[in-house]
Formats: sequence, C-alpha cells, structure tokens
Amino acid sequence: MTLKIARRGQIPPFLAMDFLRAAARREAQGAHVCHLEVGQPASGLPPAALAELGKTLATERMGYTVAQGIEPLRHALADMYDTVYGVSVDPERIVLTCGSSGGFVLAILAAFEPGDRVGITCPGYPAYRHMLSALGCEPVPIRVDARTGYRLTAAALEAVDPPLDGLIVASPANPTGTVIPGPEMQAIMTVCDARGIRLISDEIYHGLTYADPATTVAGLSPNPIVVNSFSKFYCMTGWRLGWVVAPAELLRPMECLAQNLYISPPTLSQHAGILALRHRADFDVLRETYARNRALLSAALPELGIRHFAPADGAFYLYADVSDITSDSLAFCERMLEETGVATTPGLDFDDGEGSRFVRFSFCTTTAEIEEAVRRLKAWL
Ligand SMILES: Cc1ncc(COP(=O)(O)O)c(C=O)c1O
Repeated sequence: MTLKIARRGQIPPFLAMDFLRAAARREAQGAHVCHLEVGQPASGLPPAALAELGKTLATERMGYTVAQGIEPLRHALADMYDTVYGVSVDPERIVLTCGSSGGFVLAILAAFEPGDRVGITCPGYPAYRHMLSALGCEPVPIRVDARTGYRLTAAALEAVDPPLDGLIVASPANPTGTVIPGPEMQAIMTVCDARGIRLISDEIYHGLTYADPATTVAGLSPNPIVVNSFSKFYCMTGWRLGWVVAPAELLRPMECLAQNLYISPPTLSQHAGILALRHRADFDVLRETYARNRALLSAALPELGIRHFAPADGAFYLYADVSDITSDSLAFCERMLEETGVATTPGLDFDDGEGSRFVRFSFCTTTAEIEEAVRRLKAWL
C-alpha cells in the first residue's frame, strides 16, 4: 500500500540553503568556496562574551526554561529598545523564539486562520511564502521594483484587492537591502490599523543600515507583531535565537503554541543572548566591514557587466540584475559555483517570476573573501 505524502508539506526549497549544501559538498572534497550565498556573518560572539558564557555553562543546569524565555534576557531586550530606539517595551510582551524563523511560525499560527490572505513583497524572503502556504494561508505577492527603489509603499498596500488579512514586511529587506523611511513605515502602519490588517514586521536586519537607522513598528502601534533575531546583527546564526514583541492579546496563544511546539528556546543560547546585548558595541563596529565589502562589490560588479542593483541601504546583500549575461540565473549560479567556487543565490529564491534575471550576492563574509570572489569572477566572466 502506498502511504500518502501531505501536500501542505511539499513546499519549494530555500535555494540559498540548497546552494550552501552544494558548497559544503565541494568543501568536503577539499575545494575552497567563497560564501556569498547565505546571510551568515563571518564573525561570532566576542571572546570576552564566550569566556563569560563558559562560566555560566559550568554553574547553570541548562534545563528547560519557561516557554516565553528567561526574564533577564527579556529585560535586557526591553532595555535595548529603550537605548537604541527610545521606545518603551514591556518585557512581558517579549517572547524568545528558536530563531526569528520560530517566531514567524508562532506569529502566523497565532494571528491568521487557514485561508487568510497575507501580503508579502516580491522579491522577498522566500520562507515567508513557503511558511504561509505550509500553514494554510494564502501568500499575496505585492511587486516592488526599481520604480519605488524596491520599497513597499502605503499606496501599493492600499491598492491590493481583495483586501488583506495580514502583511509581512522587512526593512531593511532581504534580498534587496532596501530600507523603508520612517514616515512611509508610519503610513503603512496607519493603513494596516485602519483596515484591520495584522502587520508582522521583520526587523532582523535592524542595526545594519548604512545611512538612516530603521524604524521599529514597536513604537508606532500596539497592533503589529515585531519579529527579530540574534542571527544577523549579533552574528549568532547557529545559536537559533530570536524574539517577538507581541500584542497583548496574542501573548497567551503564542506562549501555549511555544510550549507545545518546542517547549522553550535553547537555554545556553538565551544566556548567550544576554552577553551579546551586553557586548553590543563589538557588533556595531562590524558595520564598517560590511560597508567596505558593499563598496568593493558595488564597484566590482559593473566591471563584470552587472550594472543594475537595488540600493542596498541596509542588510548585507546586493540584488543584481544579471540579464545582460543570462536569462537563467539558476543555471548561472550553478555553473558559477562549479567552475569558480563562488557560491551565490539565484533570484528565483526571492521571486519565482522575474527572479531568473537576478542574483543575490551576500557580502557579510570577510573582505578578503569578497576580494577573492571578485578575482575569480573577473577571470571567469
Ligand atoms: C529577512 C529574514 N527573515 C528571517 C530570517 C531567518 O533568520 P533566523 O531564523 O536565523 O533568525 C532570515 C534569514 O536569512 C532573513 O533574511
């Protein structure tokens, strides 16, 4: 008898992770790969924080914690909102999660019913549309392009018909790195509140902007769900720790979901999170490396015949139009990895229509790696 395979579980791959896997296979065979495919900072926790964490590891039992996460970390995050944004957040509204990815699962399950229409930008982070469809919601793409600097606007949101139940927005965005200016974010929030659209604001790239800082919607309205993470600014991808600032009415549902889905976020990571916040200044300086890499890559790509890319005001990606070279970015990225050992991500990950004309270059690795990647690509193209 053939047993069935559930349709809802059959979602497309996250191509950046598939390319990471292909790169890891090459490395296992002894090849050197320049990693421009994933948004994984080259740095880790500062040595002083690691030393302190060693002491915690020796004295704490590392048992389960309460599902919402340990109180000292929730208080430290509330203090961060106060110092960084001047916004007051009640630590009771903060839920620690297994990466921001875990936060999205809680947020979608707590806020939306099956069949609800949730807006996402296109291009946009692929897991939004894949998670939404696995969880029974309908992802509704809202196209952003060069005309609006790849930014979502309140006007574009208002034009969506039939109306949305929810909206997921990231600023800075992945893959484009674009930042929605504060007044426009306020206008988007106003449209959401007026129309009963539950906004999920992905703030994972906050702290990583090269001009004006990004606006947190935590200070704009009591209704949005703010999702954030220790993965990017704090360089803690593998610790799998994120957080949500939840509206009061969603706190208990999210707590019960967390208890039942994964019990509690990793305890050691929660202790590491407190230390990361304490050492915030060490991460602030990394922005200079990213800015240098961004300048280097922005200057090199036109020399390779790649002249158009989104204005990367934040995050650490260049989303580049490669249509002068290829109309099949998937095959192009595969060949690039195979023939040069430079791993990148095809635009199809972020946009299943126009994405075949785009490639995303991640520049959060070391400057030496970016230089090496450019050297190899110049010889190849
Ligand atoms: C926009 C965006 N949101 C969420 C995530 C998920 O990150 P994590 O689960 O490590 O917090 C990523 C990872 O690349 C991302 O780019």
